[in-house]
Amino acid sequence: MELPIILCAVMVLLNTSGAKEGQHIMAGAVTYYGEIGRNITLSCNVSASEAAEWRLNNSQITETTEVHLTGNDLAIFSAHPSKEGEYSCHSLETGNTYSRIYLLLGYVPTKPQLSCWSVRYPLNVVCTWNLEKPTNLPTEMNTTYSYGREGVKTCSSAGPLRGSCTIKDIKLFSKIPYKVIVTATNPLGSRSTIKEFIVEKIIKPDPPADVSLSPVPNQRKKLLLQWKPPATWPNPQLFMLKYIIRYWQAGSNRPRMIEIHNLTNYTLSGLRSRAVYFVQVAAKDFVDNGQPSEWSPTVSARLWSKE
Ligand SMILES: *[C@@H]1O[C@H](CO)[C@@H](O)[C@H](O)[C@H]1NC(C)=O
Ligand SMILES: *[C@@H]1O[C@H](CO)[C@@H](O)[C@H](O)[C@H]1NC(C)=O
Ligand SMILES: *[C@@H]1O[C@H](CO)[C@@H](O)[C@H](O)[C@H]1NC(C)=O
Ligand SMILES: *[C@@H]1O[C@H](CO)[C@@H](O)[C@H](O)[C@H]1NC(C)=O
Ligand SMILES: *[C@@H]1O[C@H](CO)[C@@H](O)[C@H](O)[C@H]1NC(C)=O
Ligand SMILES: *[C@@H]1O[C@H](CO)[C@@H](O)[C@H](O)[C@H]1NC(C)=O
Repeated sequence: MELPIILCAVMVLLNTSGAKEGQHIMAGAVTYYGEIGRNITLSCNVSASEAAEWRLNNSQITETTEVHLTGNDLAIFSAHPSKEGEYSCHSLETGNTYSRIYLLLGYVPTKPQLSCWSVRYPLNVVCTWNLEKPTNLPTEMNTTYSYGREGVKTCSSAGPLRGSCTIKDIKLFSKIPYKVIVTATNPLGSRSTIKEFIVEKIIKPDPPADVSLSPVPNQRKKLLLQWKPPATWPNPQLFMLKYIIRYWQAGSNRPRMIEIHNLTNYTLSGLRSRAVYFVQVAAKDFVDNGQPSEWSPTVSARLWSKE
């Protein structure tokens, strides 16, 4: 039977000191990295005329529908993680070892997730990345950024699967985009995600802080809403914010929206006497650059009444 030889294995010489404790990888063993679900063929380093046998973790391998001997090669069909271990091929006559292969199985990395926001405009941009699906194999993340033709800068090299990078001294109101590249690499391959952005398009403040809603004495139809600019917004005097107010009466699912500029309080009026109202506030760059913040936590209050 002819077997397709799948070249998804990468050979790396392992030195014993680099091996994990308990794996008993012997000097001279090579590591094969195979892809889960693929067919894998391990070759015995022996001439075709000689007879050989294979062992896994030093126990003789019995042929199954998943593991076949073809000549002196060992074919593993649709490799399952349970097939990991140290494979060795031996002379049938003398027991001498011809090949020793440590098989590790995993996946090619998926495309990393990458998002970049300027929460502290105009101070910096923070990019975060994440590789959602584990690959079962040693995987490194490499992240760089560049601005126009200025040199490529490294955020993280050979870093963990999730991380973040702060880009400082950002160029404001520039038409030249920044470019961020995050690459996930393991012995089976690599995948990259690229993001290009103009800083003003990715402004996204944090939600307003200390939002409070209170009845106004002697006012049966008004509530006073107060808040503070997000503490992370560096300079509300220079880079002003506008606020979006969303409010609804208890039991109603039709909120009303109001937009106001550069104020940190607002009196809601024309409300229903004695009713309870719920309010949320979001912040956005004054001239509508970027995205509004997430909504602040909901606050509520009942209107003032004599009783
Ligand atoms: C693995 O080999 C079997 C038998 O030759 C074949 O039917 C199957 O399509 C192969 N699978 C892959 C993923 O190549
Ligand atoms: C195969 O065996 C020969 C002779 O023992 C040895 O010189 C060679 O390095 C071996 N090759 C591999 C890939 O193990
Ligand atoms: C072989 O040994 C290794 C390391 O001790 C272990 O992780 C693996 O599960 C074993 N493989 C099998 C098929 O028992
Ligand atoms: C990271 O990526 C950059 C550009 O893609 C490359 O120049 C650099 O050598 C990589 N670093 C590592 C450690 O792979
Ligand atoms: C916006 O508010 C800040 C802080 O209260 C104040 O310094 C600034 O003058 C205001 N700007 C306008 C246009 O109202
Ligand atoms: C509302 O904000 C304005 C402008 O900052 C301020 O002058 C006023 O005192 C505030 N009102 C209340 C009730 O906090």
